[in-house]
Amino acid sequence: MAIQWFPGHMHSTRKAIGERIKDIDVVIELLDARLPGSSANPLLAELTGHRPTLKVLNKQDVADAGRTPAWLDWYNARPDTRAIGLDASDTAPARRLIEACRQLAPQRGGMAKPMRVLICGIPNVGKSTLINTLTGKTQAKTGDEAGITKLEQRIVLDDDFYLWDTPGMLWPRITVPESGYKLAASGAVGRNAYDEEEVALELLAYLQRHYAPLLDARYRLGLDAAAIAALHDDELLALIARKRGAVMSGGRVNLQKAAELVMTDFRSAILGRITLETPPEFEAWSAAAQVQ
Ligand code: G4P
Repeated sequence: MAIQWFPGHMHSTRKAIGERIKDIDVVIELLDARLPGSSANPLLAELTGHRPTLKVLNKQDVADAGRTPAWLDWYNARPDTRAIGLDASDTAPARRLIEACRQLAPQRGGMAKPMRVLICGIPNVGKSTLINTLTGKTQAKTGDEAGITKLEQRIVLDDDFYLWDTPGMLWPRITVPESGYKLAASGAVGRNAYDEEEVALELLAYLQRHYAPLLDARYRLGLDAAAIAALHDDELLALIARKRGAVMSGGRVNLQKAAELVMTDFRSAILGRITLETPPEFEAWSAAAQVQ
């Protein structure tokens, strides 16, 4: 397992959540809709004292539209949990968030009992972007460098609806190896915590099986889905390197450069709309990790 991140601000964030949580009615966990299982903090329920939780699948505009409904159903089937999808192009997501939170804590509302909500999520999941959209201001950091902290702040979304922000947070131990790779591919993990070539190979191995036509379209491989799936993942990376001109003097392919290209193309959605896991896959990986 190549990904060993340093969870950075985890201790301070954990402390901040611990101090705030007794006065919180609902927790919003922002998830990456391209990895809705792997981007969920496995320690969240414990950290938040099992508060009702709204799972917001953000970046749904770049996730596979055919897979998001299954993930929403998967989360909505849990007690005290609701799930909705959002994306940056949503200009008025506040109403949907407020309504979903009110359903989770119907006893709260009105000036005497305002709804108190805590929002959390992994680095780079789009929390700052969402908060800026909600408030119409640029008041939280926006950027793709994982692990940049910002101070906890209270945001008033409605007269009786308060939101507290927390810094982006990962957890200390990778229990599901597949999740580690997907988090790295998504940009949630700092660049010094993983080997780009290794993560790109894992990413390609998944894309070969599930999104071969997108690989063919982007890299003009000239191969059908079965032929792409039959390639060894490092053969595929080498082919992409040649197709994209990532070749060094002497004609040797530059696999590192090709790995960076593949990761950038995935993150920016140039490759297309992709979701790196289905609920049954994620359940199987989690179960396998538990028996080890
Ligand atoms: P964070 O606070 O959770 O760390 O994340 P942040 O809002 O900084 O967002 C991280 C990146 O994700 C940003 O891209 C942002 O634009 C992008 N993003 C956020 N929400 C969405 C969404 O719903 N859909 C899509 N497609 N992208 C989203 P960036 O490349 O770092 O910056 P920029 O392109 O905005 O300049």
